[in-house]
Amino acid sequence: MKKRKNIITVAIDSPAAAGAGTQARYIAKHYNLLYLDTGKIYRLIGKLRIKYFEKFSYKFIKKKIDKININILDDSALLSNDIAISASIVAKDNKIRKIVKNFQYKCAYNPPKRFSGSVLDGRDITSVIMKDAMFKFYITANIKIRAKRRFLEFKKLKKKITYNEVLKSLKNRDYLDKSRKYSPLKKTKDSILINTSKLSKKACFMKIKSIIDKKLI
Ligand code: C5P
Repeated sequence: MKKRKNIITVAIDSPAAAGAGTQARYIAKHYNLLYLDTGKIYRLIGKLRIKYFEKFSYKFIKKKIDKININILDDSALLSNDIAISASIVAKDNKIRKIVKNFQYKCAYNPPKRFSGSVLDGRDITSVIMKDAMFKFYITANIKIRAKRRFLEFKKLKKKITYNEVLKSLKNRDYLDKSRKYSPLKKTKDSILINTSKLSKKACFMKIKSIIDKKLI
């Protein structure tokens, strides 16, 4: 695969609702990077699994993913809890992970020329997809704080779900993502740990920015 030279590459892994997406968006905006939320790809496949249960096969998924573009992923329907759970189920399958690898590599290492680089977040970005990224972060937060944040997001979207259901679902997804055989979520040794539990979004970004700027300058 073609790799663009001299680009800024940022890899982020995190459990669900730890604030990685928010930080990735800040990073992308500040450093003019392409942002790919890789969870959205698994969510899209999770949605296909629910919608086309009968037709759901590797061939079917490959056909859809070959036509994928980043704008398709900007779909608020992908944010539901049912789709998140379905995403965690399809993400266990290594054949499915292989199908989506190329698209992620392309975004990571060959972003469009108008961008100065890329930032990807997910579960296996620091460990598999962007092993040699210039910057690697593991973003996490206390489970109850994550559940509260996700619950408030769902409330804003007028989704009917209780705090306890969100907490249970996050615990279940953490378990599935950390214990699976292929590409489990883990903090790699070379990733910098950022705990967002007690930090505001802005404070957290300032911390990340100071780490990036130190190396860039
Ligand atoms: O980040 P998000 O909650 O949208 O991800 C949905 C699910 O997709 C995760 O729970 C995980 O199972 C899967 N995922 C993954 N690898 C990634 C990104 C997401 O397995 N790089």
